[in-house]
Amino acid sequence: MVIRKVITFEKIDSTNIYIKENLEQLESGSVIIANQQTNGYGRLSRIWLSEKGNTLTFSILVKQALRKDLGLITQLVAVSILKTLEKYNINPSIKWPNDILVHGKKISGVLVENIIGETDVSVIIGIGININNKTFDSTICDKATSLYIETKQISDINTFLNLLLEAFEHYYNQYLNKDTSFLDICREKSCLIGKEIYLEKSQEKVFVKGIDYQGRLLILKHGKEVVYSGNEVSLSNNYRSI
Ligand code: BTN
Repeated sequence: MVIRKVITFEKIDSTNIYIKENLEQLESGSVIIANQQTNGYGRLSRIWLSEKGNTLTFSILVKQALRKDLGLITQLVAVSILKTLEKYNINPSIKWPNDILVHGKKISGVLVENIIGETDVSVIIGIGININNKTFDSTICDKATSLYIETKQISDINTFLNLLLEAFEHYYNQYLNKDTSFLDICREKSCLIGKEIYLEKSQEKVFVKGIDYQGRLLILKHGKEVVYSGNEVSLSNNYRSI
């Protein structure tokens, strides 16, 4: 897989929406960047707030054969972001399934949407990363951070993007070759494994055992190890999810 074409918009509703609306014409490896998003969204249809010029917001389209392990893509993207952030001498962690945190605050989120055909799938990988944000909206300021806040330095957004695309190609090629060793990084850098978490849906506390071969969370429930099938988790000392 190689990144083929990069299209940049000054202002657009959402880079994921753009890809969905232009799926046929766009080739695999297309990257859509927005300097400003007016209707960015995250998982569970949550609003994704971004700041013009300071938040890196983009989506990658890959068209590939249909596989059962599509859930791994969110994990390899999380690892790509984590490895890129580490190049800036910060120490991020992954809050399964799709958040990257620094000092317990969210710096980046991933939204993967799959458009499934009979034998193939279009995977839309939406990524938002707070790069040069100095402050945040009052609704998220206690739970969001940026590369600037963590390093006290302005970073070049294009340089960050290129490093991230390089890392993404590396881990996505591993995935295509059925090499899932990136999951070890997810496990090592997980901020949930070994902790008690709160499941919002069933409103219970459970212990996180690990991440399985398909990138799913393994939890201990009533003494039994089971795959967590829901969407949302939060650390039990912090009931508000981000
Ligand atoms: C999340 O935290 O739940 C995921 C956030 C993903 C936001 C990105 S920004 C680029 C792309 N376009 C969108 O509308 N969403 C994703």
